[in-house]
Amino acid sequence: MTHEPIHHLLSAKDLPPESIEYLFSRTEAFKRMRGILPADEKALDRETVTNIFWEASTRTRVSFQMAAWRMGARVVNIAPSTSSVTKGETLDDTIATLRALGCRYFVIRHATSGEPARLAMNAGREAHVLNAGDGTNEHPSQALLDAFTIRERKKSFNGLQVAILGDILRSRVARSNLHLLSQLGAKCRVSGPAGLLPERLDVPQGTIVKTADEAIRGADVVMVLRLQKEREGKIVVDEADYRKNFSLTPQRLELAHPDAIVLHPGPINRGIEIDSSVADGPRSMILRQVENGLFMRMAIFELLRGEER
Ligand code: NCD
Repeated sequence: MTHEPIHHLLSAKDLPPESIEYLFSRTEAFKRMRGILPADEKALDRETVTNIFWEASTRTRVSFQMAAWRMGARVVNIAPSTSSVTKGETLDDTIATLRALGCRYFVIRHATSGEPARLAMNAGREAHVLNAGDGTNEHPSQALLDAFTIRERKKSFNGLQVAILGDILRSRVARSNLHLLSQLGAKCRVSGPAGLLPERLDVPQGTIVKTADEAIRGADVVMVLRLQKEREGKIVVDEADYRKNFSLTPQRLELAHPDAIVLHPGPINRGIEIDSSVADGPRSMILRQVENGLFMRMAIFELLRGEER
């Protein structure tokens, strides 16, 4: 399969359509193979992947790690508290150090929006940077695995109604999904408490609606986001209000299309943004998203490696 070379994965915005198609089809293939590849198909054979997670993570970090293993790479994990950053080293110098050790793939999660893109500019031609979530900006691999999960169930994105609920303003997952799902042809309606909504969306196919019910009515997909208290800053959200007006309860889900599916990137806060009976219910794709994430990240590594083959 031919595809445009992509060197880094920094954003879900403006991904070439043929790269998205490539990722979907390779994810499907890896899933069929249960992620077990013959030795000569492991695109990262003899490579080292460094996971640099400057923010908490369970699923994304482990998923990238396992995907790298499955593609034949060795993985090094760096955490801020045990790295030389505590001695005053910049992250650019940390990456230069790892480059000198032969590492070429850097999976980076950072609290500052734009940091992976900035690091990618300074990292040298040989380095590949994968954005694993930067501040409130983007989380492209999450959007790709979400889109793949939707595609498994819904077949076509054309005219698909997607409701995105909750903490929109601070959600990199929402931003990446809005870009990607809009590009694929879906129509997104977002809703959340007034303080957690942006003034406008930067995708023409997306609309902001006042109530969760309005967003959910007739939706084919309901995507729920976590209330990101760690980013709260000046925004004060009354949890009881949030629960009353935005939590995805079985009653609210009744408003959606009868075949609607429910997505959540995790980690979930049960009883706050989503009712346990919905999270564990038959329409929930939450663990399927995690499962698909492994295969999608294998495909992402292969896509980035592809240009050198
Ligand atoms: C998300 C993140 O870190 O952006 N989690 C994830 O990667 N699956 C969402 C969140 O933390 O709420």
